[in-house]
Amino acid sequence: MEKKTFYITTPIYYPSDKLHIGHSYTTVAADAISRYKRLRGYDVMFLTGTDEHGQKIQRKAEAKGVTPKQYVDEIVAGIKELWKLMKITNDRFIRTTDKEHESAVQKIFKKLYDNGDIYKSEYEGWYCTPCESFWTKTQLKEDKCPDCGREVELTKEESYFFKLSKYQDRLIRHIEENPEFIQPVSRQNEMLNNFLRPGLEDLCVSRTTFNWGVPVTFDDKHVVYVWIDALSNYITALGYLSEDDSAYRRYWPADVHLVGKEIVRFHTIIWPAMLMALGEPLPKQVFGHGWLLLEGGKMSKSVGNVVDPVILINKYGLDAIRYFLLREVPFGSDGVFSNEALFQRMNSDLANDLGNLLSRTVAMIDKYFGGVLPEQQVEGEFDNELKAVYAQLPQKVEELMDKLQFSTALAEIWRAISRTNKYIDETMPWVLAKSEENKPRLAAVMYNLAESLRIVSILIQPFMPETPEKIWQQLGLTGSGALDWESAKQWGGYPRGTSVQKGDVIFPRIDIKKELEALEAMSPVQKKEPSDQQGSEKVQITIDDFAKLDLRAAKVLEAEKVEGSDKLLKLKVELGGEVRQVVSGIAKHYTPESLVGKTVILVANLKPVKLRGIESQGMILAASNDDTLVVATLDGPIDSGSKVS
Ligand code: MSP
Repeated sequence: MEKKTFYITTPIYYPSDKLHIGHSYTTVAADAISRYKRLRGYDVMFLTGTDEHGQKIQRKAEAKGVTPKQYVDEIVAGIKELWKLMKITNDRFIRTTDKEHESAVQKIFKKLYDNGDIYKSEYEGWYCTPCESFWTKTQLKEDKCPDCGREVELTKEESYFFKLSKYQDRLIRHIEENPEFIQPVSRQNEMLNNFLRPGLEDLCVSRTTFNWGVPVTFDDKHVVYVWIDALSNYITALGYLSEDDSAYRRYWPADVHLVGKEIVRFHTIIWPAMLMALGEPLPKQVFGHGWLLLEGGKMSKSVGNVVDPVILINKYGLDAIRYFLLREVPFGSDGVFSNEALFQRMNSDLANDLGNLLSRTVAMIDKYFGGVLPEQQVEGEFDNELKAVYAQLPQKVEELMDKLQFSTALAEIWRAISRTNKYIDETMPWVLAKSEENKPRLAAVMYNLAESLRIVSILIQPFMPETPEKIWQQLGLTGSGALDWESAKQWGGYPRGTSVQKGDVIFPRIDIKKELEALEAMSPVQKKEPSDQQGSEKVQITIDDFAKLDLRAAKVLEAEKVEGSDKLLKLKVELGGEVRQVVSGIAKHYTPESLVGKTVILVANLKPVKLRGIESQGMILAASNDDTLVVATLDGPIDSGSKVS
C-alpha cells in the first residue's frame, strides 16, 4: 500500500546574527511532529529554510560594509549548523536566494498579474522595516508599528498591488467552514475580528526604493515584496511552476504550517488569498504557537539568562534542551525560558524520574540475576494496575501528538514513568530478593520494569533523538526488533533472555546554584533587545581605555553625496582651525544641507580609511537601531576642536 504523505513546514527564518533558543522553538516542534509521523509510517516532507531578501537585510549588510549575499551566506551556514547540532530532520532546506525559488516567484507574480489580481498604482503609507509590514495611519499605535512597537517610515512609491480585498469574503467563509484551518481557536477569532471582518485593503506587493529582492520580470525597477517572496517558498520548494513539479503534486496541500503567533496574519490572510488567486488548494492547517519569553526566572533575576542554544546544548545535552522546550509550555501559549526552570526539569523529570528508573532497573537485574531474567516469573499484586497505564499510553500520546499537544503528551509519558517508580516502592524488590522462594516474583517485577522502559523509550523518540538509543543499550535491546512504534501498543515485547548492560547515568543531577553561577560567569550581561530578544554581551573597559579615544567637537562646513552610493555622505568638518574630510554612512537619514552648520562629535584619532576611494579622516558619532539613525550633535556654544569626554 502506498504510504500516506504528511507535509509540515516551519517559517523560513530571517538570517539573524545571533540565534537564541526561542528561534529553535518552531523548528524543534516541527521536528518532533515529523519524527512522530515517520514512526507512524507516513512519507513526511519537512521543510525549513531562510528568508533572505528585503530592506532589513539590505540595510544590515550595508551597515556591515558587505553585500547582502555575503551577509546572508555566513549566517545561513550558522543556521544550518545549528539545525545539525539539534538533530533536526528536515527533508528540504530552502533559501529564498536559490535560483529555482527566485524564478518560481517571478512566475507566480506574473501569473497573478496576467490573471488581473495584481495591478500597478502608487503606495502611500507607513512601513515597518523590521517586520517588513505595511500599515495605514489608522492602524498605527501611537504612530508606531502595532506589531512590534518600533518606528515606521512614511513611504510613497510606485507599486504593484495585489487584490487582497477581492478575497475577503471567501477567506471569512473558509475560516468559518473549516475550524481546523487556524489553530488554536483564539487565533481564529483574532484574525476574523481584527482583520477580516473590519475589511481588507489591497496589498502593496512590490518595492522600488531598494533592490535586494526578486525582480519583477516585466518591470525591473520593482522587486517583489518580501512576504510574497517568502510565503511562496512553501510551494516553490516542491517545484511549483517548475519543469518537475512531482513533489508539489505529491505533498501539496501542506498538512500544517507551524508559525509563531506574530505571523499568523500573513499565513492565514495573505497566503491563502494568494493561493486562491493562483487556483491552488489551501493548506489544511496553520498552527500559531506562543512565544518563549527570554527574561530571567525568579531565582535568576540577578543572573544573566544564557539563551545561546549552542552553549546550552554543549553543556547540558541536546535531549535535555529539546525536552524542556517541548514540555515546559503548552504549545500555543507563551512561556518563560529561564536557565533555572531548565535545571529544575533536568533534575526532577530527567535525572530523578527517567534516569533513576533506568539505573535502578538495570542495577537490580544485574545484581539479582546476573543481568539476564530467568524464564520462571510469577505475576502478582500491582502488576495489572501498571499494565493498564501502559495499555492506554500509546493511544493517548498519538491523540495528543495529532493535536500538536507536545507538552501534554510528554506529561502523559512521565505520568507512566512515575507510576513505574511507584511500582518499585510497592513491590519492594529488595525485600523479595532476601528469599530464594520469591525469586520468580522478583523476576516478574524486574521484567515489568524493563518492559515499562521499553515502551517509554519508543514513545519518547519524537522528542529526544539521543536518549532512546542509550536506554536500548542498557536494556540490551539494540537491534532486537522490539522497538517499532506499533510494538509499544503491546505489553510483553521485551524479549525473554535479554542481557542488560550497566552503563553511564543518562541524566546526571546538577547542582542548580553552581550551574547558575557558572552560566553567569560565562555571560556577564544578557540584555533583552526589543528587536528579537537577543542577548548582547557587554565588555567593561577602564578609564584608561576610554582615554585612548580623541573625541572632538567638529563643525560641519560642507556636505555632499558620494557619487554612486545611496548611503554615503562626504563632509568637510573643522576642528580648531584644522579641516578634515570625513565619509559617513548617513545619507539615508540626512540630506547634505541639513548637516551644514551643525557641531558633531568626531573620533579624531581614528586611522584614516578609504571608502569608495575617498579618504575618511575620522568618524562622526551617531546613535542607531535597525531603522533609525541620529547623529550626535552638541547644541550649545562650543568652539570646534574642543575635547569631548
Ligand atoms: N521570515 C519570517 C517568516 C517568513 S515565513 C514565510 C520570520 N522569521 S523569524 O526568523 O523572525 O521567525 C522565525 C520563527 O521563529 C517564527 O515562527 C517566530 O515566531 C519564531 N521565534 C522567534 N523568536 C521566538 C521566541 N522567542 N519564541 C518562540 N518563537 C520565536 O518571521
